[in-house]
Amino acid sequence: MKMMHSMSLRILAASAAIVLAASAAIVLAAGVPAWAADGAAIFRTQCAKCHGETGKADTPVSKALKVPALAGDARISGKSVDEIVAMMKANPKHPPTVKSMSDADLEAAAGHAKQLAAGK
Ligand code: HEC
Repeated sequence: MKMMHSMSLRILAASAAIVLAASAAIVLAAGVPAWAADGAAIFRTQCAKCHGETGKADTPVSKALKVPALAGDARISGKSVDEIVAMMKANPKHPPTVKSMSDADLEAAAGHAKQLAAGK
């Protein structure tokens, strides 16, 4: 029972963190489509190690892989979310963890990448 208890506490703490992060994202993303909140969280877990949390490609992995910055890239901000998803899938540098994401998650992450590219 003790184990169950600490596990549900951990789940509770994790959910609280998610709710906090999501509401912060909603506040920051006011005026942009609803997927923005999820997109930020997905980007953080699936993309940030290579692209940097703000898309500036400023992590050790970014540097090792010579990842170009998404932030400020007009080539990306000018594309539709569908086009960005297609680019992500086609890119040979993207690992299977990215390519096996659900379409909804890919779209959410692409939407976030588009915002970062637009400097938001
Ligand atoms: C293992 C590191 C890695 C991860 C994880 C990763 N990327 Fe990339 N991504 C790259 C590299 C490297 C490039 C540049 C490839 C090139 O120059 O052709 C790139 C390019 C891109 C591009 C530009 C595509 C193009 O064709 O120019 C987009 C958009 C992008 N990534 C979005 C994402 C998103 C969104 C995620 C998370 C779902 C993600 N990436 C996860 C390494 C990564």
